[in-house]
Amino acid sequence: MTTSRPSFCRPEAEGSAGTPRRDTAGVPSWEPHGAALRDFLAGDPDAEVIVRAEDGGEERTPARVFFREPDEFSALDAAALDLCRGRVLDVGAGAGCHSLVLQARRVAVTALDVSPEAVEVMRRRGVRDVRCGDVFDFAGERFDTLLILMNGIGLVGTLAGLDRFLRAAPRLLTRRGQILLDSFDPGPADPERPRAYAGEMRFQLEYGGVRGAFYDFLFLDFETLRRHAEPAGWRCESIWQEDEGHYLARLTRGAAPGTGRRGRGREVTT
Ligand SMILES: C[S@@+](CC[C@H](N)C(=O)[O-])C[C@H]1O[C@@H](n2cnc3c(N)ncnc32)[C@H](O)[C@@H]1O
Repeated sequence: MTTSRPSFCRPEAEGSAGTPRRDTAGVPSWEPHGAALRDFLAGDPDAEVIVRAEDGGEERTPARVFFREPDEFSALDAAALDLCRGRVLDVGAGAGCHSLVLQARRVAVTALDVSPEAVEVMRRRGVRDVRCGDVFDFAGERFDTLLILMNGIGLVGTLAGLDRFLRAAPRLLTRRGQILLDSFDPGPADPERPRAYAGEMRFQLEYGGVRGAFYDFLFLDFETLRRHAEPAGWRCESIWQEDEGHYLARLTRGAAPGTGRRGRGREVTT
Protein backbone atom coordinates (compact mmCIF):
# COMPACT_ATOMS: atom_id res chain seq x y z
CA MET A 1 0.00 0.00 0.00
CA THR A 2 2.75 2.47 0.80
CA THR A 3 5.69 3.79 -1.15
CA SER A 4 8.04 3.06 1.73
CA ARG A 5 9.37 -0.20 3.04
CA PRO A 6 6.48 -2.31 4.40
CA SER A 7 6.77 -0.97 7.94
CA PHE A 8 3.47 -2.57 8.93
CA CYS A 9 5.57 -5.67 9.50
CA ARG A 10 7.28 -3.99 12.43
CA PRO A 11 5.84 -5.01 15.80
CA GLU A 12 5.92 -1.37 17.00
CA ALA A 13 3.71 -0.14 14.12
CA GLU A 14 0.66 1.79 15.29
CA GLY A 15 -2.28 -0.45 16.11
CA SER A 16 -6.04 0.06 16.02
CA ALA A 17 -7.04 -1.24 19.45
CA GLY A 18 -10.45 0.04 20.46
CA THR A 19 -11.82 0.58 16.93
CA PRO A 20 -15.29 -1.01 16.75
CA ARG A 21 -15.34 -3.55 13.91
CA ARG A 22 -18.28 -4.93 12.00
CA ASP A 23 -18.30 -8.57 10.98
CA THR A 24 -17.75 -8.09 7.27
CA ALA A 25 -17.04 -11.56 5.94
CA GLY A 26 -17.18 -11.47 2.16
CA VAL A 27 -16.22 -7.80 1.76
CA PRO A 28 -13.93 -7.51 -1.30
CA SER A 29 -10.30 -7.04 -0.30
CA TRP A 30 -9.87 -3.53 -1.75
CA GLU A 31 -13.29 -2.15 -0.77
CA PRO A 32 -12.03 -0.37 2.40
CA HIS A 33 -9.34 1.32 0.29
CA GLY A 34 -11.93 2.49 -2.23
CA ALA A 35 -14.24 3.74 0.52
CA ALA A 36 -11.41 5.80 2.03
CA LEU A 37 -10.64 7.35 -1.38
CA ARG A 38 -14.34 8.18 -1.81
CA ASP A 39 -14.56 9.83 1.64
CA PHE A 40 -11.35 11.80 1.13
CA LEU A 41 -12.70 13.17 -2.14
CA ALA A 42 -15.99 13.97 -0.39
CA GLY A 43 -14.12 16.16 2.09
CA ASP A 44 -12.69 14.01 4.89
CA PRO A 45 -8.98 14.94 4.96
CA ASP A 46 -8.31 12.42 7.75
CA ALA A 47 -9.61 9.32 5.97
CA GLU A 48 -7.05 6.56 6.44
CA VAL A 49 -6.92 2.83 5.92
CA ILE A 50 -5.58 0.35 8.45
CA VAL A 51 -3.29 -2.15 6.73
CA ARG A 52 -3.04 -5.31 8.80
CA ALA A 53 -0.44 -7.96 8.07
CA GLU A 54 -1.30 -11.59 8.65
CA ASP A 55 1.29 -11.74 11.43
CA GLY A 56 -0.62 -9.06 13.33
CA GLY A 57 1.50 -5.98 12.50
CA GLU A 58 -0.46 -2.90 11.46
CA GLU A 59 0.09 0.49 9.91
CA ARG A 60 -2.17 3.28 8.69
CA THR A 61 -2.15 4.70 5.18
CA PRO A 62 -3.74 8.15 4.82
CA ALA A 63 -6.00 8.33 1.76
CA ARG A 64 -4.37 11.63 0.80
CA VAL A 65 -1.21 9.81 -0.40
CA PHE A 66 -3.26 8.50 -3.34
CA PHE A 67 -4.19 12.08 -4.26
CA ARG A 68 -0.57 13.27 -4.42
CA GLU A 69 0.12 16.10 -6.82
CA PRO A 70 2.97 16.09 -9.35
CA ASP A 71 5.15 18.22 -7.05
CA GLU A 72 4.76 15.50 -4.38
CA PHE A 73 5.77 12.63 -6.68
CA SER A 74 8.89 10.69 -5.83
CA ALA A 75 11.77 10.83 -8.30
CA LEU A 76 10.90 7.23 -9.17
CA ASP A 77 7.29 8.19 -10.00
CA ALA A 78 8.53 11.07 -12.14
CA ALA A 79 11.03 8.85 -13.97
CA ALA A 80 8.32 6.28 -14.69
CA LEU A 81 5.94 8.91 -16.07
CA ASP A 82 8.66 10.31 -18.34
CA LEU A 83 9.27 6.81 -19.75
CA CYS A 84 5.61 6.28 -20.69
CA ARG A 85 5.09 6.17 -24.42
CA GLY A 86 2.24 5.45 -26.78
CA ARG A 87 -1.06 4.24 -25.40
CA VAL A 88 -0.78 3.66 -21.62
CA LEU A 89 -2.74 1.34 -19.30
CA ASP A 90 -2.43 2.59 -15.69
CA VAL A 91 -2.94 -0.69 -13.80
CA GLY A 92 -4.30 -0.38 -10.25
CA ALA A 93 -4.73 3.34 -10.86
CA GLY A 94 -6.21 4.15 -7.42
CA ALA A 95 -7.34 7.78 -7.30
CA GLY A 96 -5.79 8.41 -10.72
CA CYS A 97 -2.83 10.59 -9.73
CA HIS A 98 -0.63 9.24 -12.54
CA SER A 99 -3.43 9.03 -15.11
CA LEU A 100 -4.32 12.69 -14.56
CA VAL A 101 -0.73 13.79 -15.21
CA LEU A 102 -0.45 11.68 -18.35
CA GLN A 103 -3.80 12.99 -19.56
CA ALA A 104 -2.58 16.57 -19.02
CA ARG A 105 0.46 15.68 -21.15
CA ARG A 106 -1.92 14.55 -23.89
CA VAL A 107 -0.89 10.92 -23.49
CA ALA A 108 -3.67 8.44 -24.35
CA VAL A 109 -4.17 6.79 -20.96
CA THR A 110 -6.68 4.22 -19.74
CA ALA A 111 -7.03 3.85 -15.97
CA LEU A 112 -7.90 0.36 -14.66
CA ASP A 113 -8.83 -0.50 -11.10
CA VAL A 114 -10.60 -3.43 -9.47
CA SER A 115 -12.32 -1.17 -6.92
CA PRO A 116 -15.63 0.36 -8.12
CA GLU A 117 -15.22 3.13 -5.54
CA ALA A 118 -11.76 4.02 -6.89
CA VAL A 119 -13.19 4.02 -10.41
CA GLU A 120 -15.94 6.44 -9.36
CA VAL A 121 -13.34 8.68 -7.67
CA MET A 122 -11.28 8.79 -10.86
CA ARG A 123 -14.33 9.65 -12.97
CA ARG A 124 -15.20 12.49 -10.61
CA ARG A 125 -11.63 13.76 -10.76
CA GLY A 126 -11.80 13.95 -14.53
CA VAL A 127 -9.95 10.86 -15.73
CA ARG A 128 -11.60 10.39 -19.11
CA ASP A 129 -11.06 6.68 -19.85
CA VAL A 130 -11.61 4.63 -16.68
CA ARG A 131 -12.37 0.90 -16.51
CA CYS A 132 -13.37 -1.24 -13.56
CA GLY A 133 -11.84 -4.69 -13.56
CA ASP A 134 -9.14 -7.14 -12.56
CA VAL A 135 -5.99 -6.90 -14.66
CA PHE A 136 -5.97 -10.69 -14.92
CA ASP A 137 -9.33 -10.55 -16.71
CA PHE A 138 -8.74 -7.45 -18.82
CA ALA A 139 -8.56 -8.31 -22.53
CA GLY A 140 -9.30 -7.21 -26.05
CA GLU A 141 -7.11 -4.08 -26.24
CA ARG A 142 -3.38 -3.53 -26.64
CA PHE A 143 -1.20 -0.84 -25.09
CA ASP A 144 2.34 0.44 -25.61
CA THR A 145 2.95 0.84 -21.87
CA LEU A 146 1.58 -0.95 -18.81
CA LEU A 147 2.25 1.37 -15.86
CA ILE A 148 2.04 -0.35 -12.47
CA LEU A 149 3.15 2.00 -9.68
CA MET A 150 3.24 2.23 -5.86
CA ASN A 151 4.58 -1.25 -5.20
CA GLY A 152 2.39 -1.90 -8.19
CA ILE A 153 3.48 -5.38 -9.15
CA GLY A 154 2.45 -6.44 -5.63
CA LEU A 155 -1.08 -6.95 -6.93
CA VAL A 156 0.03 -10.23 -8.58
CA GLY A 157 0.01 -11.56 -5.01
CA THR A 158 2.60 -14.35 -5.09
CA LEU A 159 5.52 -15.60 -7.19
CA ALA A 160 3.06 -17.98 -8.89
CA GLY A 161 0.85 -14.96 -9.59
CA LEU A 162 3.86 -13.14 -11.03
CA ASP A 163 4.49 -16.05 -13.41
CA ARG A 164 0.82 -15.98 -14.43
CA PHE A 165 0.97 -12.23 -15.04
CA LEU A 166 4.19 -12.52 -17.08
CA ARG A 167 2.54 -15.17 -19.27
CA ALA A 168 -0.68 -13.11 -19.69
CA ALA A 169 0.76 -9.60 -20.15
CA PRO A 170 1.83 -9.98 -23.82
CA ARG A 171 -1.84 -10.10 -24.84
CA LEU A 172 -2.21 -6.55 -23.44
CA LEU A 173 0.87 -5.16 -25.18
CA THR A 174 1.82 -4.12 -28.68
CA ARG A 175 4.83 -5.94 -30.14
CA ARG A 176 7.32 -3.37 -28.83
CA GLY A 177 5.33 -2.59 -25.71
CA GLN A 178 6.82 -2.16 -22.23
CA ILE A 179 5.87 -2.75 -18.60
CA LEU A 180 7.02 -0.15 -16.04
CA LEU A 181 6.71 -1.43 -12.49
CA ASP A 182 8.12 -0.72 -9.06
CA SER A 183 8.68 -2.82 -5.97
CA PHE A 184 10.80 -3.23 -2.84
CA ASP A 185 13.45 -5.74 -1.94
CA PRO A 186 11.77 -7.61 0.94
CA GLY A 187 15.12 -8.58 2.49
CA PRO A 188 16.22 -11.98 3.77
CA ALA A 189 13.91 -14.92 4.41
CA ASP A 190 12.15 -15.24 7.73
CA PRO A 191 14.22 -17.72 9.81
CA GLU A 192 10.95 -19.40 10.85
CA ARG A 193 9.98 -19.90 7.17
CA PRO A 194 13.41 -20.35 5.55
CA ARG A 195 12.07 -21.94 2.36
CA ALA A 196 9.41 -19.29 1.76
CA TYR A 197 10.12 -16.14 -0.28
CA ALA A 198 10.17 -13.23 2.20
CA GLY A 199 8.15 -10.96 -0.11
CA GLU A 200 5.07 -13.19 -0.25
CA MET A 201 2.79 -11.52 2.29
CA ARG A 202 -0.87 -11.37 3.23
CA PHE A 203 -2.74 -8.24 4.27
CA GLN A 204 -6.19 -7.09 5.24
CA LEU A 205 -7.51 -3.55 4.84
CA GLU A 206 -9.91 -1.90 7.26
CA TYR A 207 -11.74 1.39 7.03
CA GLY A 208 -14.63 2.73 9.06
CA GLY A 209 -14.79 -0.53 11.00
CA VAL A 210 -15.23 -2.56 7.80
CA ARG A 211 -12.61 -5.16 7.05
CA GLY A 212 -11.98 -6.61 3.62
CA ALA A 213 -10.96 -10.18 2.93
CA PHE A 214 -7.26 -10.98 3.37
CA TYR A 215 -5.33 -10.81 0.09
CA ASP A 216 -1.89 -11.87 -1.11
CA PHE A 217 0.62 -9.12 -1.90
CA LEU A 218 4.13 -9.51 -3.31
CA PHE A 219 7.24 -7.47 -2.52
CA LEU A 220 9.83 -8.46 -5.08
CA ASP A 221 13.59 -7.85 -5.31
CA PHE A 222 14.97 -7.08 -8.75
CA GLU A 223 17.02 -10.28 -9.11
CA THR A 224 13.99 -12.44 -8.34
CA LEU A 225 11.97 -10.43 -10.86
CA ARG A 226 14.68 -11.03 -13.46
CA ARG A 227 14.86 -14.77 -12.66
CA HIS A 228 11.13 -15.08 -13.32
CA ALA A 229 10.89 -12.65 -16.25
CA GLU A 230 13.75 -13.81 -18.49
CA PRO A 231 12.63 -17.45 -18.89
CA ALA A 232 9.17 -16.09 -19.77
CA GLY A 233 10.70 -14.14 -22.67
CA TRP A 234 11.09 -10.71 -21.09
CA ARG A 235 14.09 -8.42 -21.14
CA CYS A 236 14.34 -6.98 -17.65
CA GLU A 237 16.08 -3.66 -16.90
CA SER A 238 16.58 -1.93 -13.59
CA ILE A 239 15.90 1.72 -14.45
CA TRP A 240 15.98 3.39 -11.06
CA GLN A 241 17.25 2.21 -7.67
CA GLU A 242 16.65 3.94 -4.34
CA ASP A 243 19.00 3.25 -1.44
CA GLU A 244 16.15 1.82 0.65
CA GLY A 245 15.57 -1.00 -1.86
CA HIS A 246 12.76 0.64 -3.85
CA TYR A 247 13.34 0.24 -7.58
CA LEU A 248 11.72 0.88 -10.96
CA ALA A 249 12.02 -1.83 -13.60
CA ARG A 250 11.18 -1.98 -17.28
CA LEU A 251 10.21 -5.20 -19.01
CA THR A 252 10.21 -5.46 -22.78
CA ARG A 253 10.11 -8.23 -25.32
CA GLY A 254 13.27 -7.61 -27.32
CA ALA A 255 13.30 -3.80 -27.36
CA ALA A 256 16.62 -1.97 -26.93
CA PRO A 257 17.26 -0.51 -23.46
CA GLY A 258 16.80 3.23 -22.98
CA THR A 259 17.98 5.51 -20.22
CA GLY A 260 16.50 6.47 -16.90
CA ARG A 261 17.02 9.73 -15.01
CA ARG A 262 19.34 10.80 -12.26
CA GLY A 263 18.17 12.37 -9.04
CA ARG A 264 17.77 11.28 -5.45
CA GLY A 265 18.01 7.65 -6.55
CA ARG A 266 20.48 6.02 -8.88
CA GLU A 267 19.99 5.32 -12.53
CA VAL A 268 21.05 1.76 -13.28
CA THR A 269 22.01 0.44 -16.68
CA THR A 270 21.88 -3.26 -17.35
C1 LIG B 1 -1.42 0.63 -3.71
S1 LIG B 1 -2.77 1.15 -4.70
C2 LIG B 1 -1.87 2.10 -5.92
C3 LIG B 1 -2.66 3.20 -6.53
C4 LIG B 1 -1.94 4.06 -7.58
N1 LIG B 1 -1.24 3.27 -8.59
C5 LIG B 1 -1.00 5.05 -6.95
O1 LIG B 1 0.22 4.98 -7.23
O2 LIG B 1 -1.45 5.90 -6.17
C6 LIG B 1 -3.18 -0.34 -5.60
C7 LIG B 1 -4.44 -0.23 -6.44
O3 LIG B 1 -4.55 -1.43 -7.23
C8 LIG B 1 -5.92 -1.83 -7.27
N2 LIG B 1 -5.89 -3.28 -7.56
C9 LIG B 1 -5.55 -4.29 -6.73
N3 LIG B 1 -5.60 -5.47 -7.36
C10 LIG B 1 -5.95 -5.20 -8.64
C11 LIG B 1 -6.16 -6.02 -9.78
N4 LIG B 1 -6.00 -7.35 -9.71
N5 LIG B 1 -6.52 -5.44 -10.94
C12 LIG B 1 -6.69 -4.08 -11.01
N6 LIG B 1 -6.51 -3.26 -9.94
C13 LIG B 1 -6.14 -3.80 -8.77
C14 LIG B 1 -6.47 -1.43 -5.92
O4 LIG B 1 -7.87 -1.25 -5.90
C15 LIG B 1 -5.71 -0.12 -5.65
O5 LIG B 1 -6.45 1.01 -6.06
